[in-house]
Amino acid sequence: MARYKVGYIVGSLATASINRMLSKALIRLAPPDLEFVEIPIKDLPLYSYDYDDDFPAEGRALKDAIAAVDAVLFVTPEYNRSIPGGLKNAIDWASRPWGDNSFSGKPSAVIGASPGAIGTAVAQQSLRSVLGYCNAPQMNHPEAYIRFRPGLITDAGDVTDAGTERFLRHFMEEFREFIVRVLTALPRHAMASR
Ligand code: FNR
Repeated sequence: MARYKVGYIVGSLATASINRMLSKALIRLAPPDLEFVEIPIKDLPLYSYDYDDDFPAEGRALKDAIAAVDAVLFVTPEYNRSIPGGLKNAIDWASRPWGDNSFSGKPSAVIGASPGAIGTAVAQQSLRSVLGYCNAPQMNHPEAYIRFRPGLITDAGDVTDAGTERFLRHFMEEFREFIVRVLTALPRHAMASR
């Protein structure tokens, strides 16, 4: 009985992405009234404002996909202390053309995994800054910096560490509450774009 549709964007294009594994786990642990659909980013050309008058099919598909969901969940790695270029490219596409910013008023949350100790913290700060500019309301708390180790998440998306599982479940419950709060203040039909 899904009430809220969440589009998730995996910031990694790698086939063996640990962040894709994390997204699978998050979906399994989420409250039952959240329904998930992936918003793919890998086939987007590199953005230029030359496209603004006539978006290619991939750019239109991205914007349509974001318009069709109530909220967006970003599950991203950290590349060179920032977000991967492919993710930034997708955000640039979705934010344009000027006056038709797909993220405006759209509830969002950010999470990521890396094998390193800071678990994508720097990339997430960078992404939060981008989302702020794009006028996307973002869940501030809890923050989620996941230190990945092989075996933490099974191929089926089960989390093998009880503490991590509890935390990820809590993260998704909080995201649900955040979506409800934002959509109460900014009902779907009233979302403005700029
Ligand atoms: C990395 N990695 C990495 N890790 C990190 O914690 N901070 C960083 O700045 C970087 N930088 C970085 C740059 C590039 C180009 C690559 C390919 C990797 C390591 C990274 O966390 C690791 O490869 C993860 O597996 C990436 O997540 P996905 O792509 O598997 O989801």
